[in-house]
Amino acid sequence: MNIDFSYCNPTQIHFGKTALTHLSQELAKYGSNVLMVYGKSSIKKIGLYDQVIKILQDAGKQVTELSGINSNPRYTQVLEGARLVRENSIDLILAVGGGSVIDCCKGISVSSYATGDPWERFWINKETPTEKVIPIGTILTMVGTGSEMNSGSVITNEEQKIKNGAVFPLAMMTPRFSILNPEYTFSVPKYQMVSGIADIFSHLMEQYLSGDDDCTTDYLLEGNMLALISASRKAIVNPEDYEARSNIMWCATMGLNRILGVSKQQDWEVHMIEHQLGAYTDCAHGIGLAIISPAYFRHVFRHGLHRYVRFAKNVWKVDPTGKTDEQIALEGISRFESFIRELGIPATLREVGATREMLPLIANSTILGGGYYKVTADDILQILNDCY
Ligand code: NZQ
Ligand code: ZN
Repeated sequence: MNIDFSYCNPTQIHFGKTALTHLSQELAKYGSNVLMVYGKSSIKKIGLYDQVIKILQDAGKQVTELSGINSNPRYTQVLEGARLVRENSIDLILAVGGGSVIDCCKGISVSSYATGDPWERFWINKETPTEKVIPIGTILTMVGTGSEMNSGSVITNEEQKIKNGAVFPLAMMTPRFSILNPEYTFSVPKYQMVSGIADIFSHLMEQYLSGDDDCTTDYLLEGNMLALISASRKAIVNPEDYEARSNIMWCATMGLNRILGVSKQQDWEVHMIEHQLGAYTDCAHGIGLAIISPAYFRHVFRHGLHRYVRFAKNVWKVDPTGKTDEQIALEGISRFESFIRELGIPATLREVGATREMLPLIANSTILGGGYYKVTADDILQILNDCY
């Protein structure tokens, strides 16, 4: 554990089939004005909307609603929510949905009483808010992002064609509580389910494919990847396999509650490229990640060969006998790619609506330090061409 760290994650998790029974005790901790935020139609279709409204009414809450939050939530929706918070003196924001709804709520929370232009301050200049923020709680219905136990908020500014993530201090902006019932995810369409699985896998790899020591975090990441592969194979055969869906749900929460990143340098370049892809195509986040990842890994793996060899052996069980390190590493990447195909995820950017003309614009992504190698805009363009 060569990199020092401080870690505190205050989210209260209620997990399992009875998780919703804890909502009233959580609501009792906050004032009476609640902003309930959700997506387009799924929570009404599965009957969750009625259940939550009843619990809120029984608790004597005054409920304001904001619905229709898009996948890849829009900055205009953040501003609309912030207006509702101010007008209704909101005490708690309750997110009922997937990562997009939760991210939007975090955006609303920090923007409500912010002075100046919240987009410039938080999503472009990455400032830490100094004004009042509103506590949020979540009821998760779509699994993947880990937003239910982290402080990230990824927002799309449609006008500027930029999708950017802000990461606020954990103690300030992680949800105060999150209700995780795997049964709510049974109705998620297969395309969204596999998008979530690919997102979780990417979070694990972005944290794993970095650093040179043999730290505890690496073993935890390998364990999470093995659990995810096993559960995903069961869930694609039977989406109502509770055991499988509950393991995927917990892998997602663990995957990005930041505990699996401690003492790691971390990469996140695949996410930076995907966010720009999302700004141009509005594709599902995990699908974009799954398309970009193999091309990215083949482009950079020689710079961190030892780790890609470990990934191949420990996660994909590649037999190293008689093979060079390069061959082992490449076989690991191919096995990962086969797993992605097994889930039925498209292989090319073309299939999610990207055009050749868009590639140089998408290549203008944020460039981070890299796990082992810092890419240039030319590298990104080549990676995009490789998976076009
Ligand atoms: O709008 P509704 O009708 O609710 O439909 C949603 C939406 O169409 C549907 N859905 C959700 N629960 C369902 C359901 N359909 C049937 N049954 C249910 N129980 O699923 C669709 C996708 O939902 P969304 O919330 O967009 O998906 P996800 O959770 O993958 O969130 C994606 C967003 O999170 C960001 C992504 O970039 C993207 O904007 N991320 C957030 C992160 C964070 N906060 O830490 C990290 C991630 O890397 C990611 O960038
Ligand atoms: Zn992600």
